Amino acid sequence: MSLDAVLARIDTDLPQATERLLDLLRIPSISTDPAYKADCDKAADWLVRDLQSLGVEASKRPTPGHPMVVGHSGGEGRHMIFYGHYDVQPVDPLDLWDSGPFEPAIEETAKGTVIRGRGSSDDKGQLMTFVEACRAWKAVHGALPGNISFFFEGEEESGSPSLVPFMKENADELRADVALICDTGLFDSRVPAIVTSLRGLLGEELTIEGPDKDLHSGFFGGVAMNPARVLSRIIASLHDADGNVTVPGFYDGVAEISDEQRAQWQALEFDHDAFLGEVGLSELAGEQGRTALELMWSRPTCEVNGMISGYTGDGFKTVLPSKASAKISFRLVPGQDPFKIRESFRAMVHELLPVDCTVVFDNHGASPGIAMSTDNEAFDLARAALSDEWSDPAAYVGCGGSIPIAGHFKSILDTDAMLIGFGKDDDQIHSPNEKYDLESFHKGMRSWARILDRLAG
Ligand code: BES
Ligand code: ZN
Repeated sequence: MSLDAVLARIDTDLPQATERLLDLLRIPSISTDPAYKADCDKAADWLVRDLQSLGVEASKRPTPGHPMVVGHSGGEGRHMIFYGHYDVQPVDPLDLWDSGPFEPAIEETAKGTVIRGRGSSDDKGQLMTFVEACRAWKAVHGALPGNISFFFEGEEESGSPSLVPFMKENADELRADVALICDTGLFDSRVPAIVTSLRGLLGEELTIEGPDKDLHSGFFGGVAMNPARVLSRIIASLHDADGNVTVPGFYDGVAEISDEQRAQWQALEFDHDAFLGEVGLSELAGEQGRTALELMWSRPTCEVNGMISGYTGDGFKTVLPSKASAKISFRLVPGQDPFKIRESFRAMVHELLPVDCTVVFDNHGASPGIAMSTDNEAFDLARAALSDEWSDPAAYVGCGGSIPIAGHFKSILDTDAMLIGFGKDDDQIHSPNEKYDLESFHKGMRSWARILDRLAG
């Protein structure tokens, strides 16, 4: 059978495929930091060349931010568009990495062989599972299966500012029968997952300014308003004692999950204790009376991702800082309006501001939570294909993270998105020592070959 030949090709080509991934991982394409602009460009060029080596007509497409990469295989049958992102998160704190984040390597660990490096799991390794499945297919058949388009973004980790305008401007080119996205995880190491809901994200940075310069706290402490104190008060006001978010109107439109949904999630037998235990914790910190899965997949949150003020170097300095800033993100669920929440949050901050302080806001993206419909025939076909590769059938799951494009595929292009990924909970995405299991990479490629076989018919 020809699928068997493709799978065999994936198996024998694994060392070379891994080398190609390591090559991509060496490019420090950190999208949020302007210092890495040229590297983002380089990663886009790398992908264009890689797609061209598959006979795909591919090009780098400029945006006001980092470029997109778009390619088309041509061909007959179901039109599938594959999305992945080539940008990665910043690497700090650098001193917690055991090796260079952009000096990727294959490493033997107690839990198996891993590919170590920033972006290995999120999302270069995942993106390459699909590209490499296509390469094996091409080697066996001389062409890619069906009609495949490729769409790679370089701003996913920084709120996707160029994505919506680009999709609107190129809607006819990007519309397809189904979108395939590889940027999520397995349910556990045996159970593959198709993600049917994602949370949205509102990213807000606020800077409180008070005195026009840093002051000596011996003169001005207790006399002048301290922006760090003001910021702390604002942050402390964002939750009540039970872990509920206090921004007015925050829960408007948030629905309780159905009994059916609750039962389906319960049947997954998620190990809640192990989930927190893995990271050295024991107690849930969110809204009371809900399980970790429910909190992660169906409830909105507000979190502080960074705070900056005053003297943070070694030793001590009795300074009264003139500024204090924080980066705050809200994970949103379907029904919440990101823009209303932004206005409400900003109004709340203004109300808490003392006379002598001002605030400046900077937005880092606002995308709504989304729930995918699984009516598209592609979902059943993909589930069946995954069952052929994995020992357990695929689970329909939620995802607490955000992938802004998933909703845009439906709202802008009327294209259903199907999210299938092979990451694991311990991949340490966004953290030091990020890794991707070699098994995820290998079985990921094999899974896509099987899915393509079914989808291309
Ligand atoms: N791959 C992640 C999304 C994800 C997170 C999937 C956790 C599975 C588990 C994606 O690259 C990501 O990190 N998205 C950002 C988006 C944000 C910066 C707009 C996120 O969720 O923080
Ligand atoms: Zn990410």
